Amino acid sequence: MPVLPPHHPITNSMNLIDKNNPLLAKIFETINNSPEKIITFAEYMNLCLYDPEYGYYNSAKIIIGNQGDFFTSSSLSSDFGELLAIQLEEFWQVLGKPSNFKLVEMGAGNGNLALTIINYLFNHYPNFASNIEYIIIEKSQTLKVKQQQLFSDNLANTIQIKWEDWDSIPDNSIIGCFFSNELVDAMPVHLIRYSHKKLEEIYLTEKGNQLLIKYDSLSSQDIYNYFEILDINFDKNIYPDDYHTEVNLNAIDWLSQVFTKLKQGYLLTIDYGYTAKKYYHPQRSQGTLKCYYQHRHHHNPYVNIGSQDITSHVNFTALEKYGELLGLSNLAYTKQALFLMSLGLGDRLSELSDGKMSLRKILQRREELHNLINPEGLGNFGVLLQTKNLTTIQSQFSLQGFY
Ligand SMILES: C[S@@+](CC[C@H](N)C(=O)[O-])C[C@H]1O[C@@H](n2cnc3c(N)ncnc32)[C@H](O)[C@@H]1O
Repeated sequence: MPVLPPHHPITNSMNLIDKNNPLLAKIFETINNSPEKIITFAEYMNLCLYDPEYGYYNSAKIIIGNQGDFFTSSSLSSDFGELLAIQLEEFWQVLGKPSNFKLVEMGAGNGNLALTIINYLFNHYPNFASNIEYIIIEKSQTLKVKQQQLFSDNLANTIQIKWEDWDSIPDNSIIGCFFSNELVDAMPVHLIRYSHKKLEEIYLTEKGNQLLIKYDSLSSQDIYNYFEILDINFDKNIYPDDYHTEVNLNAIDWLSQVFTKLKQGYLLTIDYGYTAKKYYHPQRSQGTLKCYYQHRHHHNPYVNIGSQDITSHVNFTALEKYGELLGLSNLAYTKQALFLMSLGLGDRLSELSDGKMSLRKILQRREELHNLINPEGLGNFGVLLQTKNLTTIQSQFSLQGFY
């Protein structure tokens, strides 16, 4: 497969590969039905990932874990979910153990994380388990069905679990914790280019059954505002010509939805990403957009249309700054390795030397645990904790995962 920078125009050979791709036909239809006969890259990415019929996350091809295109912390072993469950229980304690505490997982993938958390809470924190309702918000209908199937096959306890859409949750109704693992990196982004001293956006159009790239002015004032709010100034003469990057406006809408629904409690975001300074560093001239196909990554979002994952890094500064503007407080930020070690991953590693396991099992467990804290991989993920309407005393509580 050719590996091309994200802005490289489609070539004939790629079109031959995709000639009979029904998603490409749908993308052309969307382009041709639009007033200007162009769509933004964000619209294109949304179709590639979330088209109800052929989008990657709605297709039969979506398998998260070793058998799929990529794995996540929760698909490696149950350790991630179990340690996270310890932190979630502590949130409940800090809020005074309310009887209507809700855990809202957004973007639950194959449902493994939810199942692990629920089972762990039931076995280790029955008091908490009997006081919660577990809600999943999932954009992909295919994954929602998979999650429901997993729960009907495995749920051996009485925790209430339900699937909701944003619209079905009343405003200011959730006391509890909204949380996600690798949700924000899966949101469609706007692709931006800085060229000849001005900002442009990347659009897609169609000509003679070919998908073509078009550069034009930014599709929304919100993108200019985004850079202004983050103090990223392209007029400073430090950016090279043909600089490419991304802007995730969907993350800002999502943040605002969480804020609207949360009455009191936490928003916990775990994902890979950078601060705004690092994200928009002049040397990061090709941005962070990445595609995953059969456990290999590359930078061409215009191949394997509907059969590959497309992601971009999370801008944690944007979540913090926009969160503050909305009225959230930024309580803590740490790295996944430190977060999990503080919650007891180190103890799990020590237990491996107690002589109770076979050597084979010890090696397997050690690899699983090390993967979660690998500083060049999952361990380097960011863990951002934001809160709404906590009292001063609640905010000052020293949380185990953030020591
Ligand atoms: C990369 S997967 C991560 C899955 C899972 N959290 C894990 O750790 O394995 C991204 C998940 O987010 C879902 N998703 C993407 N955008 C969403 C949104 N706006 N609301 C809810 N779910 C979303 C996808 O369908 C998918 O389930």
